[in-house]
Amino acid sequence: MHQPVRTAVFPVAGLGTRFLPATKALPKEMLPVVDTPLIEYAVDEARAAGIEEFIFVTGRGKSAIEDHFDRNFELEGELERRDPDGKALELVRGSAPTAGHIAYVRQGEPLGPGHAVWCARRFVGDEPFAVLLADDLIMSDPPTLVDLMDVYRDKGGNVISLMEIDPAVTSRYGVISPGADDGRVVEILDLVEKPSAAEAPSNLAIVGRYILQPGVMEILARGARGAGGEIQLTDALAAMVGSHPFHGVRLGGTRFDCGTKIGFLEANVAYALGRPDLEDDTRARLRAILDRF
Ligand code: G1P
Repeated sequence: MHQPVRTAVFPVAGLGTRFLPATKALPKEMLPVVDTPLIEYAVDEARAAGIEEFIFVTGRGKSAIEDHFDRNFELEGELERRDPDGKALELVRGSAPTAGHIAYVRQGEPLGPGHAVWCARRFVGDEPFAVLLADDLIMSDPPTLVDLMDVYRDKGGNVISLMEIDPAVTSRYGVISPGADDGRVVEILDLVEKPSAAEAPSNLAIVGRYILQPGVMEILARGARGAGGEIQLTDALAAMVGSHPFHGVRLGGTRFDCGTKIGFLEANVAYALGRPDLEDDTRARLRAILDRF
């Protein structure tokens, strides 16, 4: 029996410069895909995977995230009066984890994704934990973290999500070196953050979903700098190969890179098409727009 994974870490301190001016006063994680903030999709996925403790690594200007996962009595009161079927009220109340099971810690300095994860160490303690990068929005049934948990229960150790990429874009991702591969679960022999196409050990890239052993925190504490001069989670994971079982799971669904404008737009269209109340209208209006512009 492997130790259960109860805690998830959400690094949300990034500045979101790619979405300026929208993100001047609004955290990029609060940008909506259709009608739901990006971060809520990640929190829902974690909850579906059995996560009980939610740790956000935040920074300046991110207080809208805290407000979002809190009660809003004024709005709830207003909706109780106005909304006869209670649907809106359900949406407003539905997103928040149970009181006392959500915590916020500030990253302080933007020293990289590994540093962000390390900032959650006091909350993670000695248990394995999940990390979800909200920029990677994944349309998948079962949800990706549920899939990873499944493999974790069997194999233990570290388990991360993988997708095949075009060699032309390897330098935007962490890339793994594969061992035994059954077509779904891939043994991981090495990981490299943002390699050039020539250096990349494969076309299998890391997607932002991880189940990690707590020992990663000691490695991150060393503060070694990697790609872009940042403390990289991928480098700390590479240092764990050999001392823990380490597997990747090929992505079942479709991943949208909501850290880029085009991926974010694509996600909005795809999620609208996936919604029975919006599907037909979205399709018809997309056709009309394509004819007009
Ligand atoms: C991060 C990770 C990278 C991973 C990517 C997936 O990079 O460092 O290993 O492949 O997310 O989206 P970022 O997109 O933050 O540069």
